[in-house]
Amino acid sequence: MELVTLANGERAVRDRLTGEVMHSAVGPREEPMQLYVKAARLEERLASAADSPLVLLDVGLGAGSNAALAFALSESRTNGAGTRRLQIVSFDRSTAAMELALGEHAQALGFTDAARAAGRALLEHGHAEAAHTSWRLSLGDLPGTLRALPHDVADVVFWDPFSPRANPTLWGVAAFSALRLACRDGCTVHTYSQATRVRSALLLAGFHVGLGVATGHKETTTIAGVGAPRGAALLDRRWLERLNRSSAPLPDDVDPKDALDALARIAAHPQFM
Ligand SMILES: C[S@@+](CC[C@H](N)C(=O)[O-])C[C@H]1O[C@@H](n2cnc3c(N)ncnc32)[C@H](O)[C@@H]1O
Repeated sequence: MELVTLANGERAVRDRLTGEVMHSAVGPREEPMQLYVKAARLEERLASAADSPLVLLDVGLGAGSNAALAFALSESRTNGAGTRRLQIVSFDRSTAAMELALGEHAQALGFTDAARAAGRALLEHGHAEAAHTSWRLSLGDLPGTLRALPHDVADVVFWDPFSPRANPTLWGVAAFSALRLACRDGCTVHTYSQATRVRSALLLAGFHVGLGVATGHKETTTIAGVGAPRGAALLDRRWLERLNRSSAPLPDDVDPKDALDALARIAAHPQFM
């Protein structure tokens, strides 16, 4: 892991093994806000009067910027009725990026002092507790660690592994099917990818899939949900037509001999009816 400076002057963490930079488009302070926290309507959902906590799966803890921002937003709420507790579960097989992020550049990587203290407790004890927020680390290989979750527990998912090129396992039907089991009704899934094969994998796993917000040089990203995500434009029949003309319509874990069947299953998804 190393710190790099992006073209816009923001600092970010680069993984030397894959060569990929975390939040490379606009940096770790702006991208988590637009693509994850705002797109998930986290503030609004936390303002609800529900007794049960809002459960956020932070898939790919990495340098912790997405989770730290959710943590800071949750902790910035004042006490009182209608403040729902946030429960963050972060998944990763390594804490190397997080260890780097909690050093002297923590603020540039999006950490408030409280989020940095919680991040340190997370690495030391595997969990951190604060006034409105619990944060737990699930250390191990995905998607196995997702399969270990009880079913129907998650409300929001930040899906932020490395790209499908560097990390194909986490963008296929098997990984999204494991995720789907953990998600309850109304859960929304947010990810930076706009790839056709990723959207196909989400549809095949049973999610509804729509267009996510623009970020950096990307015109769209992807939002998925158990049921149609509120306010999102769902992929429509024109997308289906383009899918059938695409040179890479399906994820790697669909056997080419099953491709026609998979395309037929996507076309029969309720969101296209
Ligand atoms: C793009 S980074 C995450 C960035 C992070 N969300 C942030 O806000 O800084 C992707 C992370 O996914 C983790 N990862 C990739 N493949 C994994 C796997 N199979 N199991 C667990 N973690 C994995 C990597 O170790 C890396 O830390």
